[in-house]
Amino acid sequence: MLDKTKAEDSVISKKALLPISIVIFGIAGDLAKRKLIPALWHLFISGNLPEKFSIVGFARRDWSNDDLKKYVADILKEKNGESFSAKIKDFINKFSYISGDFNKEESYRVLAERLLEIDKKTESCCAKLFHLSVPPEMYETIFEQMSNGGLSDICASSGGWTRILVEKPFGNDWYTAENLDQKMGSLFKEDQIFRVDHYMGKESVQNILAFRFSNSFLEHLWSNKFIEKINIRLWEKIGIEGRGAFYDQIGALRDVGQNHILQMLAFIAMEDPVIFEAEAIRKSRAKVLSELKLISKEEISRFASRGQYEGYLNEQSVSPDSKTETYFRVEARVENERWAGVPFYLESGKSLGKSEVEIEIVFRKKDSCLCPLNANEDVSKNKIFFRIQPNEGIDLSFWVKRPGFEMKLDPKMLSFSYEKNENDKKTPDAYERVIFDCIMGDQTLFASTEEVLASWKFITPIIENWKDLPILKYKKGWIPEN
Ligand code: BG6
Repeated sequence: MLDKTKAEDSVISKKALLPISIVIFGIAGDLAKRKLIPALWHLFISGNLPEKFSIVGFARRDWSNDDLKKYVADILKEKNGESFSAKIKDFINKFSYISGDFNKEESYRVLAERLLEIDKKTESCCAKLFHLSVPPEMYETIFEQMSNGGLSDICASSGGWTRILVEKPFGNDWYTAENLDQKMGSLFKEDQIFRVDHYMGKESVQNILAFRFSNSFLEHLWSNKFIEKINIRLWEKIGIEGRGAFYDQIGALRDVGQNHILQMLAFIAMEDPVIFEAEAIRKSRAKVLSELKLISKEEISRFASRGQYEGYLNEQSVSPDSKTETYFRVEARVENERWAGVPFYLESGKSLGKSEVEIEIVFRKKDSCLCPLNANEDVSKNKIFFRIQPNEGIDLSFWVKRPGFEMKLDPKMLSFSYEKNENDKKTPDAYERVIFDCIMGDQTLFASTEEVLASWKFITPIIENWKDLPILKYKKGWIPEN
């Protein structure tokens, strides 16, 4: 895994990098607007893009190069204010646009010509990074067209590389994920495919690895002997935000459960990879995901529940009798020696009363605790909280003696917060990390094919088996109780 300090030290990385052409399929879409363009901008101003780079936007809209440049400038001005405008000019000049149809061979011919023009201008065969910021049903077509148009490995013979960044969902269930994977595998090599799960790009998620595997005091505590249960919550105040057509087809479990939540579980439960290299870390994550106990039809009502917020059926593009869940709670079990008997409660919902992503490790109560006899069961247990967002950091709850002659105890917290410890350095946004690591060819924070298939293997029976369960209706603003 790359040391983060390298990302912040622009000079080291930049010199080592080839000139690059970045192609964004679907540049006019929401993801490019909210995440990709701002992330590329931050990488640019922090000197973490190669000296020579170009960005080719590809979408259906009938835009000119200038239209795209204006679009990019407006996004950045809105986020940063006018004061950034001098540098923005250099940045937007890196952009050009192709108005094309993802289904038409002709569009890929135009794209190949554009990339060749850039190579000629740069006097080198640039590395090529293709980002698929399009609905997943377009993936197969784009892969095939790229391959037919000779775009799948353009500069390999001259030492360059071609990589593709694909966004979740990778398939809709285990069967479609496997199909998609076979298709991708027949056109690209595994080291060319970067499957994005932006949660792995979050500092606070990477910090789980650092905290677990660099602190010897945790080593012996990290198992069913001392840990009673683990709660992983991804609560959101926001609703589906105009994404009805997409969301209604997939629901909360596919949207964030199969990927973000299971990846957090993998970081918490994986075995020590021993060496901090991409292959070892990904294997370790994949292994623990493959050890998740599958939930049968008979067990479904005990281990899983789902809900839908009131008013969801009136959202735009949502079917009026939709049974799509906007909330779920699943009790997962990892079937190995370390975790046997420990429940992992996985929970997420939209339109809840709080936005909070947190992992709570609850330790078993000590038999001979000096803590007050009448102390609430839950308070008397030690806990570690990984605060993923907001207020990224870690808390540890424990007992201390209250000053005085009596042996009275008070519960207290030891807290670490990124906010207070960042030495004024801006924490890279998850998408900065995603793009940077892809350019550097580091796959540590990207899901491998084994991880994707293992997580679908766990999720698919839940989706199939909970169809007959009633769907809990909850009010917007509800805060689930644990
Ligand atoms: C996305 C989901 O993958 O993650 C969204 O599609 C969700 O529905 C989002 O809101 C949460 O990500 P973050 O980084 O805002 O917590």
